Amino acid sequence: MSTFKALSLTFALATGAAFAADETNGLGNRPNLGDKITEADIKAWDITILPDGTNLPAGSGTYAGGVKVIAEKCAVCHGEGAKGGKNAALVTDAPLPPGQIEANKTIKNFWANSTTLFDYVRRAMPWNTPRTLTDQEVWDAVAYILAANKLIDEKAVMDAKTLPQVKMPNRDNFIIRFPERI
Ligand code: HEC
Repeated sequence: MSTFKALSLTFALATGAAFAADETNGLGNRPNLGDKITEADIKAWDITILPDGTNLPAGSGTYAGGVKVIAEKCAVCHGEGAKGGKNAALVTDAPLPPGQIEANKTIKNFWANSTTLFDYVRRAMPWNTPRTLTDQEVWDAVAYILAANKLIDEKAVMDAKTLPQVKMPNRDNFIIRFPERI
C-alpha cells in the first residue's frame, strides 16, 4: 500500500469514527462542529437597511445631537464639523462634474439613498472601532451630516419614518444597467 493510500485510509477511519460518535447529538451524521445559531445571533448581523427604511431601528436624531458625536468621534479623521480632514469630507458642496467618472464623489453629490448613511455609519464607522456606536449616536450623526449638507433643516428630526423621505440630489441619475435581469 502506498503511503498516500495508507494516510487516506487512516483519515477515513478517523472521520468515520467522528461521524459515528456524533449521531447522538441530534445533528445527524455530521462532524460535531459549531453551535446551533439562535435568533439573537442572527439579529446581531442582520443590520442591512433598505432604501425604503426597512430595518431602521427605533429612536431619532438631530443636528444638535450630532454636533457632539461628530466632534468627539469623527472629527479626528473627517475634520472639524466633518468638513474634511485626513479622511473624506462628509459635508461639502463640491459638485459632481458631468461625465467625469473619476471625479470626487461625496455623500451630497453622489449617494443615492439617505438610508445608506445609517447603514454605513453603524456598520463601518468609526473606522478604527466599527460597531461601537449606539443607535442614538448613529441617528444623531446621520441627522448632522444631512443638515450640515443642507439636505434637511437643522431642526428636522430623523427617525425611521422621516429618514427614508429625504431625497438625495443624485438619486434619479442612476441607471439600471441590465433591467432584464431584475
Ligand atoms: C480613524 C479614522 C476615522 C474615524 C474616527 C471616522 N471615520 Fe469615517 N471614514 C474613515 C475612512 C478611512 C473612510 C473611507 C473609507 C473607504 O473609502 O472605504 C471613511 C468614510 C466615511 C463615510 C463615507 C464617506 C463617503 O463619501 O463615501 C462616512 C459617511 C463616514 N466615514 C462617517 C463617519 C462618522 C459619522 C464617524 C464618527 C462617528 C466617522 N466616520 C469616524 C475614517 C474614519
